[in-house]
Amino acid sequence: MTQETQAGAQVPMVRLHDGNEIPQVGLGVLRIDDEGVTPVVESALQVGYRHIDGAAGYDNEGGVGRALEEVGYASGPQRERLWMTTKLRDSEQGYDSALRAFDRQLGLLRLDYVDMYMIHWPTPFDWRSGETWKAFVRLRDEGRVRTLGVCNFMPSDLERLHGETGEYPTVNQIELHPTWQQREVTAYCREHGIAVEAYSPMARGADLANGVAEEIAAVHGVTPAQVILRWHIENGTIIIPKSVHRDRQEENLDLFGFALTDEEHRRIDALDGPTRAGHDPATFSYA
Ligand SMILES: NC(=O)c1ccc[n+]([C@@H]2O[C@H](COP(=O)([O-])OP(=O)(O)OC[C@H]3O[C@@H](n4cnc5c(N)ncnc54)[C@H](OP(=O)(O)O)[C@@H]3O)[C@@H](O)[C@H]2O)c1
Repeated sequence: MTQETQAGAQVPMVRLHDGNEIPQVGLGVLRIDDEGVTPVVESALQVGYRHIDGAAGYDNEGGVGRALEEVGYASGPQRERLWMTTKLRDSEQGYDSALRAFDRQLGLLRLDYVDMYMIHWPTPFDWRSGETWKAFVRLRDEGRVRTLGVCNFMPSDLERLHGETGEYPTVNQIELHPTWQQREVTAYCREHGIAVEAYSPMARGADLANGVAEEIAAVHGVTPAQVILRWHIENGTIIIPKSVHRDRQEENLDLFGFALTDEEHRRIDALDGPTRAGHDPATFSYA
């Protein structure tokens, strides 16, 4: 059993259009190898995270599964308090291949169900998301996935998916941070009831040293990371900051003892620019 920390207990739940509730802060586990991820997820669960963001493409689902089992979150009452997300590899999109991939992923994670299953990239140049979605719906109907989501979908991809399936995803996970705010995408999502989840919420660390976050942090007696993550929280965005360090995991969860002023929001909003930290969904495939 783990002790619920003060910070973990304060994380709000965001209600999604399918009725499920997701913790607004989760831990990302990209770029951590399969062996290394086990202690990282264990420490996150111990400091109070109840939401883990994984993917087949991170090649570490086995290590995540070992952590869930070790700390007692793979089954029983603690499992019900955990939100586990994973994503389908682009190369496994399609109806039959998605179903086969999901079986393998669930086994690696040592779970009976996942809370959210996501299409990782839209690959509009090799579009199979309509067929993939039909497999996702079957998994949801079977009770093996609770919520269906996508990542990196632009409005044109969301329209295409809706046209083929009659559904919008519940969540769209996109790159989003002060220097890459994607306002057109977030406005579209909000208009259509799609929750926005920010990946690389600190631009992989690049947005921490631009001066503005440091100045605001000094006023509140917090860190630049906390200022940026708090900005996301107050915007209603779900966030999945990644850290392998226990102290930073605690820091990234400890966002509820201060609030930003309107003027501070305006200063961070004004940082928006043309600088993505990751890839262009129109052309990229993770494979
Ligand atoms: N769907 C997609 O296509 C997609 C793409 C990219 C990412 N993601 C997801 O989003 C998650 C987060 O994104 P990300 O990992 O790219 O970027 P991020 O969370 O913005 O930044 C992570 C970087 O910041 C450092 N860091 C973390 N907390 C810090 C703190 N309090 N102070 C200073 N530095 C800190 C981390 O280093 P340490 O680890 O050394 O602390 C790491 O280098 C990923 O892990 C993944 O789950 C999804």
